[in-house]
Amino acid sequence: MPSQQSSFSGRRTASIDHVFIAAIDVASVGPSAKPHPCTHAYSSPERFTPRRRTVLPASSTRWLPLTRTPAAAGAASASAMTNGRSLNLGWRAVIDLHSHVLPGVDDGVRTMRESLELLRAAHDDGTSRLAATPHVREDYPTTAREMELRHAELCGAAREAAIPVEVLPGGELDLGYAAELDDDELRRFGLGGNPALLLLEFPYLGWPLQLPDFVFDLQLRGFRVVLAHPERNVDVQHEPERLRPLVDSGVVVQLTAASLDGRLGGGPRRAARQLLDARLAHLVASDAHAPDVRSAGLSEAAAAVGGRALARWLTDDVPAALLDGRELPERPEPPRRRLLRR
Ligand SMILES: [Fe+2]
Repeated sequence: MPSQQSSFSGRRTASIDHVFIAAIDVASVGPSAKPHPCTHAYSSPERFTPRRRTVLPASSTRWLPLTRTPAAAGAASASAMTNGRSLNLGWRAVIDLHSHVLPGVDDGVRTMRESLELLRAAHDDGTSRLAATPHVREDYPTTAREMELRHAELCGAAREAAIPVEVLPGGELDLGYAAELDDDELRRFGLGGNPALLLLEFPYLGWPLQLPDFVFDLQLRGFRVVLAHPERNVDVQHEPERLRPLVDSGVVVQLTAASLDGRLGGGPRRAARQLLDARLAHLVASDAHAPDVRSAGLSEAAAAVGGRALARWLTDDVPAALLDGRELPERPEPPRRRLLRR
């Protein structure tokens, strides 16, 4: 199968304004006076102004538009119903390191009301920590300053609404765009607040030729790379082993929950399972964009993994280690029977 090659070219960004980060302001919530877990708060008198959204031509191949298809809506409804029944996975400390929960920043959640709705759904599904990872790319040129301001607002709103989910900062960085950011800006986009951890968006089409060199360069500069949802790339679907050298070099591979449980179709589902079987995947995240577009929560995907220990490793043990900057814990062996097929 011929491989469609793609390349990324960087762009220069304007200098980054200074943002001051105040000490953590953990307010008490409700009569229990229990501190809200949202521990990353910034103090700034400024208000964030949502920018007009960029509309790309339908022929664009840089990204796939997230449309609310009837099938997606149906899948979301099914997910919510399942969530309501509780899958009883045996632990309630899921960490979701990829979501578009910041309102009005990218193609994710549009309003603060939707953000809180998504957080509530995530909490109901067992998520305790959720990283807000807005797109950082040409069509959504989110700056670290914008992310921090919007993140602080969401933390405050979650605290007021008494939703016990710790919202963490972050960003989903386009390869070419990230190549033009300086180390300080990159650190501010550190995944989950770990300044040495970067979430890079794997392209949906074509194999990014410059990726190995760029990853190596980032590693030399002290960053650890998490690749977001490569199973949705057609080239990876045809040849998952192409990721092996990157994984061997220390790259962490994140699967999208909706790929694993089949909501994104057969190609992503098969590739996700192949990557899991080949030990080329390390964590699962929702990549939630809205309450009804790749809904929050990981329980369905965790159940689809087919092994409780492995599911926990993917949704809790590994993300916790990444946030702490620790080595990844040893992966548990999957059950003898092959991963559950749907
Ligand atoms: Fe994403």
